[in-house]
Amino acid sequence: MEAKNKTTFLNPFSLGIDLATGDMPEATNHLIRRASDMKGYYLNENALEELIKRDSDPIHYEVFEIPVPEEYGHLMYCISKLFPGKIGEEYFFTKGHYHTVEETAEIYLCLKGEGYMVMKTSDGKSEEIRMERGQMVYVPPFWAHRSVNTGTEPLISFCVYPAEAGHNYGDIKEQGFPKRIFEKGNAIRII
Ligand SMILES: [Fe+2]
Repeated sequence: MEAKNKTTFLNPFSLGIDLATGDMPEATNHLIRRASDMKGYYLNENALEELIKRDSDPIHYEVFEIPVPEEYGHLMYCISKLFPGKIGEEYFFTKGHYHTVEETAEIYLCLKGEGYMVMKTSDGKSEEIRMERGQMVYVPPFWAHRSVNTGTEPLISFCVYPAEAGHNYGDIKEQGFPKRIFEKGNAIRII
């Protein structure tokens, strides 16, 4: 069969994902973000530097995937694993991104842990949606998105998105998201 519309023809395949742990043993891509990769993202820069020194620059979050062609028609999928902890009072989060192709959505199915999907649009809208095991978050087109781990175990999600979407970190490093999530007085505060 010929590929249509520049969409590469593939044969069907399957792979295993441990739904309890999020392990994807056959993953061939493994993206690791360490604490030092998060410089400039948290409010308390000193607390981040202390963590980097104290724990020898620990892994902050990681992504596992088996890539498919980054083309219209295919679906990329991954396991995202964000470790628990705080930088000062601020819960660990992922950098967050827009999709380079803005009109592409994403689905996150939470497998383990608890936290929030924090989202924003370039014209100032903001949403924070709770994530816990069995909860699916639909990130619509045009929304930048970041996971935040407010629990005590890794926040693990299975994600699916159009394979041509791409990642655009845009203004997020400079401007962040409208809301940050803290622990204050033993309570989760979205401020
Ligand atoms: Fe995404």
